[in-house]
Amino acid sequence: KPAPIALTLDVSKAGPTIDRHIFGQFAEHLGEGIYGGIWVGKDSSIPNTRGIRNDVVAALKDLHVPNVRWPGGCFADEYHWRRGIGPERKPSMNANWGGVIEPNTFGTDEFFDFIGQIGSEAYVSVNVGSGTPGEAAEWMEYMTADKADGIGAERAKNGHEAPYKVAFVGLGNESWDCGGAMTPDFYVDLMKLHARFVRNYNPAQTMSRIAVGPSGGDTPYTEAVMKAWKDHSWAWNIEGLSLHSYTTGGGFPVSQNSADFGEKEYAVMLKDTLGMEDLVKKHGAIMDKYDPEKKIALVVDEWGAWYAATPGTNPGFLMQQNTQRDAVLAALNLNIFARHADRVRMANIAQMINVLQAMIITDKDKMLLTPTYHVFHMYVPFQDATFIPVNFDAGSYAYGGVTLPRVDAIAAKGKDGKTWVAITNIDPEKPATFDLSAAGLKAGKAVGQTLTAAKITSANTFDKPNTVSPKPVTVKASGGHFAITVAPASVTVVSLEQ
Ligand code: AHR
Repeated sequence: KPAPIALTLDVSKAGPTIDRHIFGQFAEHLGEGIYGGIWVGKDSSIPNTRGIRNDVVAALKDLHVPNVRWPGGCFADEYHWRRGIGPERKPSMNANWGGVIEPNTFGTDEFFDFIGQIGSEAYVSVNVGSGTPGEAAEWMEYMTADKADGIGAERAKNGHEAPYKVAFVGLGNESWDCGGAMTPDFYVDLMKLHARFVRNYNPAQTMSRIAVGPSGGDTPYTEAVMKAWKDHSWAWNIEGLSLHSYTTGGGFPVSQNSADFGEKEYAVMLKDTLGMEDLVKKHGAIMDKYDPEKKIALVVDEWGAWYAATPGTNPGFLMQQNTQRDAVLAALNLNIFARHADRVRMANIAQMINVLQAMIITDKDKMLLTPTYHVFHMYVPFQDATFIPVNFDAGSYAYGGVTLPRVDAIAAKGKDGKTWVAITNIDPEKPATFDLSAAGLKAGKAVGQTLTAAKITSANTFDKPNTVSPKPVTVKASGGHFAITVAPASVTVVSLEQ
């Protein structure tokens, strides 16, 4: 029987706040991400509030989603907001995603209704690729100006007198690729124009501007945007730099199967996802050069697993299965963001519903919660918690020539005053036993939940929606130590109380 892994918490070295915004979501007009997933229309037989499905809202409320990034993605750089307001909507083409008609029935006012219903904040991406600074500025005016203002009055006429709150604005999306294939210098000029004119008129909300940054390990955008920021003037500023990095287990075009895979593919995907740590360090080091005070946040506003589309579905809709492997993958990324909480202050998993590594999958009136949803739910106590360093020997797990750490863990002091520990057992074969202890923490009560599954391929289906769902976990407390055994390929979150 192997010795337990000694995990000690250094409560005296409490670190930065784990910003709740690292648990952000991304909802793009893509496949059934919006239509079907959120919006069913007021006349639908699916229970809804002003067209927005009630079951999805209830599930998302429980996640305390801090912010929703919308309307894209690649879609954002071809979005013309005026087509999506008022009584007469003007359909357009969704050229990026399946070439389908975009009805524009879910527009600005419906988005704010949706985030209001789930209790979240707005992260709106403006169209830098095919729009103009003027169009983006007028959209901001529509959203945030007083009803006495010309464009604010239009919003009021559409039924929304009070200005909306825009907490974050994205200045373009992937401008190095689908957003216009721009050189870094060309983007920087356009970005400055937008940062200057995309104004927030609502004094009740501070708005952060997020510039397009790197793709994966590419550094030219990081260098160019940060260099420009160092010389910013009174006329413009930004507060965040975006990083996009998907886990594909082999680059693009994607080929990994989301539902049917073996241990080798499990190890390959998790190895790939752990690369997020190096990316954050690499871009963080460049940012430190220009911004040692860490004023600019690194915003990982697209991350998650991207597999080959589920056979028989429209490949442009990016539908995939979500398994226990994805739960482990999500936890590992959240742990990385928490470890770099001083710089990574926001992140958005791609995507919220029905697309890529989704929280929720719907099929007409049916809805299921994925293993990834359950991880986000279990991690709610880490929102705005204070990071506590942990010491442990992660050991190693190897399969088919791929070597990974065997376990991972983070800890934090929650806003509720409790000490929270999250443990991931990456090893899909062996359980892991931990001996948790912390100076100054007497072992009292410890409670928690664990997400385990019979197989790494286990998933929730409409027939069996609770195949993978959290269960209470037993923690033995005595003499200042907490003993816990976690199952293979599992995610566990416990609170230690005095
Ligand atoms: O999330 C799907 C797409 O991935 C987004 O639209 C784009 O920004 C990225 O390439």
